[in-house]
Amino acid sequence: MRDEPCRTIGFAGPAQHPAAQALARQLGLTLRVEPAAAELLLWVHAGGLELRRGTAAVRCDFTVPQLAQRLARGRHDLLRALGARGGERLRVTDATAGLGIDAITLAHHGHRVVALERCRITAALLADGLLRARQGPPAIAAAAGRIRLHCREADGYLHSLPTAPDVIYLDPMYGEDRSRAQPRLAMQLLRALTAGEAAPAEAPGRLLTAALARAGRRVVVKRPLRAPALPGPRPHGAIRGRTTRYDIYGIG
Ligand SMILES: C[S@@+](CC[C@H](N)C(=O)[O-])C[C@H]1O[C@@H](n2cnc3c(N)ncnc32)[C@H](O)[C@@H]1O
Repeated sequence: MRDEPCRTIGFAGPAQHPAAQALARQLGLTLRVEPAAAELLLWVHAGGLELRRGTAAVRCDFTVPQLAQRLARGRHDLLRALGARGGERLRVTDATAGLGIDAITLAHHGHRVVALERCRITAALLADGLLRARQGPPAIAAAAGRIRLHCREADGYLHSLPTAPDVIYLDPMYGEDRSRAQPRLAMQLLRALTAGEAAPAEAPGRLLTAALARAGRRVVVKRPLRAPALPGPRPHGAIRGRTTRYDIYGIG
């Protein structure tokens, strides 16, 4: 597993101490009673888990109204890109789950999602969001129940899959144009998690190759609208939105 520059966990009060202690052990973080404000750290409070630095914070919360509005939209470009035929429920592997907005969108529309996230801290935030979503309003609880999260590097996991998922979905990079999905400071925190980790330039292309070798029907790749396709074979089609493009690679 990769090293992130978040090495500390703090907690809001005595009630959160056991949870913070357990996470510190699980994630190999240092538990501090009074962490420095400027530090990038995980923070356990009554509402759940968040990543914070100073006044900026990011958490995974599937119960916010903006998400409910997104989920209510039946004709989301991501859903069109999947190519499900007439109410079909697909098995989708979201190989770059992040904070799970796309995964919950897919699951809310009935698809079964295996979510892979290689960054331990991001995966912990997502696990916390899913846990709370399962205790939330029925529709969101049902969607969260259709997501299985693994903290794994996708390339290796995809190679070892015994059966092919119908669709493998990739959204490998937090780009500059994504600031609407999360407040700007929150995006900076998420990027800070992987700062200093020299992601090899060929990594997204390698991930695409692994996905193309394992998907049953298609691979869908999310890209900024005007960005080039990932290195590798040319997509067979694309769905274009206002700021985002979904490149589609058919199999066979
Ligand atoms: C742009 S974010 C994904 C956002 C996500 N689609 C959402 O809706 O929240 C990309 C995430 O993919 C993860 N990632 C990138 N390459 C990966 C790989 N090879 N295996 C697993 N996770 C990966 C990164 O750690 C990051 O959290």
